[in-house]
Amino acid sequence: MILVTSSFRHYLAYSWRIIRLSKIYPVLPYMLLIGVICIGLFGFAGLQLHPGGTWFDKFRNANQSAFALARYLKNICPKATKAKLALAKNAHYCVRHKVMYCPVEKSGSTFWRRVFYLLYGWNTSYVHPFQVPVQEALSQQFESFIQLRLWKRGNVSPESFFMFMFVRNPYTRILSAYVDKLYPHNPVYWKKFGVPAIRTYRQNPSTLNLLCGHDATFEEFLKFVIQRVLSNKYMYEDVHFASISEMCNPCKVSYDYVGKMESFQTDSKFLLKQLGLESSLDAIGESFLNMSVYDAIVDSVYGPYSWRQDLTKYPCITWNQSLRRLWRKLQLRGIISFSQSYPFDGVDPTLISKEEYIQFAWNSHLLSSKEELDAQKENILKEAYGSVKEEDLARFKSAFKSDFHLFGYDDSPAFIVHRVDHSSSYKYLSFMNI
Ligand SMILES: *[C@@H]1O[C@H](CO)[C@@H](O)[C@H](O)[C@H]1NC(C)=O
Ligand SMILES: *[C@@H]1O[C@H](CO)[C@@H](O)[C@H](O)[C@H]1NC(C)=O
Ligand SMILES: *[C@@H]1O[C@H](CO)[C@@H](O)[C@H](O)[C@H]1NC(C)=O
Ligand SMILES: *[C@@H]1O[C@H](CO)[C@@H](O)[C@H](O)[C@H]1NC(C)=O
Repeated sequence: MILVTSSFRHYLAYSWRIIRLSKIYPVLPYMLLIGVICIGLFGFAGLQLHPGGTWFDKFRNANQSAFALARYLKNICPKATKAKLALAKNAHYCVRHKVMYCPVEKSGSTFWRRVFYLLYGWNTSYVHPFQVPVQEALSQQFESFIQLRLWKRGNVSPESFFMFMFVRNPYTRILSAYVDKLYPHNPVYWKKFGVPAIRTYRQNPSTLNLLCGHDATFEEFLKFVIQRVLSNKYMYEDVHFASISEMCNPCKVSYDYVGKMESFQTDSKFLLKQLGLESSLDAIGESFLNMSVYDAIVDSVYGPYSWRQDLTKYPCITWNQSLRRLWRKLQLRGIISFSQSYPFDGVDPTLISKEEYIQFAWNSHLLSSKEELDAQKENILKEAYGSVKEEDLARFKSAFKSDFHLFGYDDSPAFIVHRVDHSSSYKYLSFMNI
């Protein structure tokens, strides 16, 4: 502190000496006056040139809950600014369109990466996001903050970027991560999360359990996630289970639009229109939901088929079990009703092709009523959190406290308050009888 003040004093004295030596001090007040006038004039001209400032001013006051949520965040986090955009560590940018998106896994991030693929115009034969192959969209390198700094230094104002994100209720988000990554055949996640969760939280695990990690229960998984989030270890391990607040930092970075997974279709359609992707909207028409579901099926089926070769190296489950778990996963995701049982009973599992599986799953989806599927999702949520002990629930609420608080999610909804104990056994989330 002393060092800084004294060097500042030296600097002042030095400057004053230069001014005195150059003998310009009699005209200094006039120079200052001219300077002020110039700044005033140019500043005014600048305002005239950019009356509103940003390209999204025309819709920023639209009556949309996603804008309301962004405004609410600005109220409770008054210090958030766009200049701190670097704190949204994994955000994607599209400089051409002046858009920044902070991806949140299990909250529509694949969809939005496909939209970015369209915005970049990499392949004009794709008209709408559902046409962009998932693997292609996920393997692309979108512009990142680092690249912005290196390539565009001085030329990019954070204020000119439209910044958005999509959030989701922590209860459904973490359950969805489990159903998507741990429950089905996925040796990568089994090793990364299944093995340590079983090793830490299961009494007397078998050698096979410890080697494969293929049957971690929701309760074991949740405890593991809570411990990771509370000890700040998750960011480096996997974004699927990190808290949204940590990933996108909405109390430091100010967002313009905070959509919700719970209103994904409405919020997304609105944004597609504003981003100039009307042709996408026209091509999708009334089929947004249909396309999302079909996509979810294709994506889910893709997983086990890509791990199939692995079965000889890691014989943790049989191919027969892998395909049966996949069916249950589609049921747990609320795509196929429980009344639609596994259609390949008695069929040699090695003969079932990916395309055939997708076709059967889609047909079964069409035979499942919305009421059935809604009730099913509710029951699975109840079962999942009914299997968790009271003290672990309290720790879960505290681990995801800021997500609940910032995005307006109730941490004690009815299914938690009127919890039915499911600790003794799972019915839907079981690995038996599938
Ligand atoms: C905004 O939208 C909500 C629900 O969509 C509606 O109830 C409300 O009247 C709208 N407000 C205005 C000012 O248009
Ligand atoms: C664009 O997509 C089409 C359809 O999938 C494909 O046939 C074509 O090779 C792609 N073009 C480029 C340049 O990747
Ligand atoms: C969804 O797809 C099914 C089967 O292709 C079709 O019968 C149905 O009309 C579609 N629904 C919408 C809203 O597009
Ligand atoms: C596949 O698994 C089911 C249920 O566990 C079992 O009844 C069936 O015999 C198995 N089929 C084969 C070919 O192993």
